[in-house]
Amino acid sequence: MRHTAIYPGSFDPLTLGHLDLIERAAHIFDEVIVAVGVNSRKQTFFSAAERLEMVKASVKSIKNVKVDSFGGLLVDYARSKKVHVLLRGLRAFSDFEYEFQMALANRKLAPGIEAIFLMPKETHSYISSSTVREIVDRGGDISQFVPPPVKKFIVKKYSVPRFRAKCDS
Ligand code: PNS
Repeated sequence: MRHTAIYPGSFDPLTLGHLDLIERAAHIFDEVIVAVGVNSRKQTFFSAAERLEMVKASVKSIKNVKVDSFGGLLVDYARSKKVHVLLRGLRAFSDFEYEFQMALANRKLAPGIEAIFLMPKETHSYISSSTVREIVDRGGDISQFVPPPVKKFIVKKYSVPRFRAKCDS
């Protein structure tokens, strides 16, 4: 029996913390599906297509990781894939309340689906997509926060000369 886990998120954009979690999960499960949440009513900094592209570029060397997108309820998506494990990251205590609520709501909706939590590398615990967005918005250097393919994508999109010089070197 193959063990598959779904790692859902907005990934707006994918960070080094997300990637660390994906790598850890890829060692535990036979297959990991990174599922990019698409919600037309939720405003994101990067479009769904952009978020997907950045995730795909960042995980392409990890053989047992697939990338997909989903709309609607996460548990419905998991059922459609016949997957019973949802993976989420816990960086700090402050993540707990939101994750706890989401995990219990999902359990009520689908009792057979379990949420499993992994902790990213401690040196990544301060990194969040919202911090990255703020730095991008103000033209700062995101090298220490995101995987190289994400930086490359963002540099190309914004064509910020300061980024480009560092990227080309
Ligand atoms: O990276 P994020 O923004 O914390 O990811 C949140 C996400 C996409 C996993 C969550 O919003 C989600 O599961 N959305 C789908 C809608 C859903 O199933 N909601 C019920 C659970 S509370």
